[in-house]
Amino acid sequence: MDKIVVKGGKKLSGTVRVSGAKNSALPIMAACLLGSEKSVLEGVPNLRDVQTMCRLLRVIGARVIFENDRLEITPFSKMKPVAPYHLVSTMRASVCVLGPLLARLGSAQVSLPGGCVIGARPIDLHLKGLQALGAQIQISHGDVYAGTKGKLQGKEIYLGGAFGSSVLATANVMMAATLAHGVTLIENAASEPEVVDLADFLNKMGAKIEGHGSHLIKIQGVRKLHGANHTIIPDRIEAGTFMVAAAITKGDVTVQNCEPEHLNALIDKLQQAGVSVKRSKGSVRVSRKGRLKPIDVTALPYPGFPTDLQAQIMALMAVTPGISVITEKIYPDRFMHVSELNRMGCRIFLEGSSAIVNGVQKISGAPVMASDLRASAALVLAGLAGEGETHVSRIYHLDRGYERIEEKLSSLGADIRRAKE
Ligand code: EPZ
Repeated sequence: MDKIVVKGGKKLSGTVRVSGAKNSALPIMAACLLGSEKSVLEGVPNLRDVQTMCRLLRVIGARVIFENDRLEITPFSKMKPVAPYHLVSTMRASVCVLGPLLARLGSAQVSLPGGCVIGARPIDLHLKGLQALGAQIQISHGDVYAGTKGKLQGKEIYLGGAFGSSVLATANVMMAATLAHGVTLIENAASEPEVVDLADFLNKMGAKIEGHGSHLIKIQGVRKLHGANHTIIPDRIEAGTFMVAAAITKGDVTVQNCEPEHLNALIDKLQQAGVSVKRSKGSVRVSRKGRLKPIDVTALPYPGFPTDLQAQIMALMAVTPGISVITEKIYPDRFMHVSELNRMGCRIFLEGSSAIVNGVQKISGAPVMASDLRASAALVLAGLAGEGETHVSRIYHLDRGYERIEEKLSSLGADIRRAKE
């Protein structure tokens, strides 16, 4: 297993280019199963999760060619609508083949995604939405069996959950509805940029979707979808991670190939803390000179502050003297990074779904362990600011969502390398 070794104290400077969005690429890859011909995706990041989705599509029945950041997906006329446990258990996003398979073939067997360290990760909203479209759903021996006699039927569906909207449930139901008979209305739909990107791709395939980006999405079912070419939007979470890296090292970094308007909540919080953020077309420049001020952050569905940047902003607040309160409304247990940050001298206390961050002047490098994708990013960020060396182990978590992060950070001047455990 690999680890990352980072020696803190270097100010980051220069420019870094963001890859395509993992959380847009994954559902769009599943959507290719809806098309009768080849689709070509550009700007696809070479990540473990993308490789897992490639394997899953091959197992189901598609020709998948992935070279550089270009992905060609051609579904076979004969497909096996099964997503096996050994793949779904390593990547929850596999669940978004359910909607396309059901719509295209009238049946699907998808292993129930287990929980993960950030929370229970249920799929009740996915199943509620597909049932509303007329699917029969059964769960047995850990698998979801979905079937439909004839076409799915368009419906008005409320997809709100206790935590607000669901990104992948919206994706699954929207994909299934493209081939349903009649009109589907999804109320309390997720409005994340990745949902918008998926809808844009589906419309290029011949779907009739409007309202994406709002909480009310309307899908007029069509008879069939063809292939399409599409460039994946930039990864706002990777972009945000580099913005925090600039702030935590008192650096001056331009993050290129990003959509600043996808980062409004983070930009607002960084500016509140005293970080300078300058927007341009397709990039942001982040610099920080003096002391920062503590801030309060609440992770909410888009356009609220993204839960996927909660651990990263916590690392910054951990070295910002004063009390910051960080509240998690999406995954109340998403605090695996706290105990590891405290090993580095941070003073963070959990109170229910909030973390009370007692910012300290300085933290020290230490051996720490990654637990989930974004927590590992937070540990690397803390390492950039820590005195001495930080060894982050189990970085396969990091490789799920960040493409060559150590190379990108060292191109900004970080003293960081990948090593064997
Ligand atoms: C997507 O997961 C992202 N993953 C997650 O990013 C992200 O954290 C999450 O959205 C929230 O923004 C991908 O897009 C591949 P949800 P998703 O359904 O769709 C509850 C990362 O680090 N819920 O929006 O699975 C759920 O428990 C990953 O890149 C139900 O109750 O998340 C959570 O509390 C981590 N029932 C809330 O809704 C359901 O059927 C939001 O989850 C579905 C979800």
